[in-house]
Amino acid sequence: MEKELEELQSNLKKSLNGLTKEADVLNLKSEYLGKKSRISELLSGLKDMSNEDKRKYGSLINNTKKELENIVNEYLENMNNKTSIKFDDTIDFDIELGSLHPITIVAKEVTDVLKRMGFTVVSGVEMESEYYNFEALNVPKDHPARDMQDTYYLDNGMLLRTQTSGDQIHSMEKFGAPLRICSPGRTFRNEDLDASHENTFFQIEGMVIDKGITIENLIFVMREILREIFKRDVEVRLRPGFFPFTEPSYELDCSCLICGGKGCPTCKNSGWIELVPGGMVHPNVLKAGGIDPEVYNGFAFGIGLTRLAMMKYKINDIRVLNSGDLRYLSHFDID
Ligand code: DAH
Repeated sequence: MEKELEELQSNLKKSLNGLTKEADVLNLKSEYLGKKSRISELLSGLKDMSNEDKRKYGSLINNTKKELENIVNEYLENMNNKTSIKFDDTIDFDIELGSLHPITIVAKEVTDVLKRMGFTVVSGVEMESEYYNFEALNVPKDHPARDMQDTYYLDNGMLLRTQTSGDQIHSMEKFGAPLRICSPGRTFRNEDLDASHENTFFQIEGMVIDKGITIENLIFVMREILREIFKRDVEVRLRPGFFPFTEPSYELDCSCLICGGKGCPTCKNSGWIELVPGGMVHPNVLKAGGIDPEVYNGFAFGIGLTRLAMMKYKINDIRVLNSGDLRYLSHFDID
């Protein structure tokens, strides 16, 4: 008996030797100390022994059991000490904080004002159908307005949306009237790149549908947005425009903040930047969204967020915005 108990201890030590995984050690522990282990068998055999033997072997077996437990526990402790990573608070970490992209900042500023005015922020898809990008917006197949937006058509019959305006239709279908939504997002057009043209840029769409909406409401919302972005009054002008999805349509321009209105490549030497086109929603668009134009009307607008960021931060080359050049892009922050 004594010999067997000694062997148990030495065998356990041998089996543990070199184990590095906690799970392996625990398996060994249950092999040597679990219900089906030899030591448990010996312990339960005690009850059948004579009183004399019980006295003799009882403490021997129990002590061996304790010894086996100690061996395993010590091994585990040692192993954990070796592998655990100690936190060294004497090391000085130089953590570089990230910053927001200028377009993210202006998108947040615009949505913040609109949210305060009760607008819901929605998010559309970048791969869109022709129906939502054009047809439902009163731009049928051969309409010349399609030429203004050189479109990337995809092999699967879809297209890369050229404007966020399709979200007007999605939102009317989803929420019905009355409605106040805005939808910021990425848009695509096949443009040759230069200081003021990109093939990938950002817009935010806005739409209000209710009873008795007037162009005054629209101008008020525009003013609030621009005041929030520029934190001061900016010179703006409103002129008639044309968009198939609004009637009447207008263009709101702001004086070019890059050149102060003198004329530069960004404003195509006009001194003005087209910033917020919009108008009263065309009855055909309301109908496409399932809303009765006899009962409801509304206004819509689209803001070029990329342009807005350029004006706000006086960025004179649109290409830096998609460049990923952190030397330039990491210097912006929310006011
Ligand atoms: N989607 C137009 C564009 O990209 C901008 C626009 C014009 C949006 C008039 C509107 C609108 O909602 O009413 O050129």
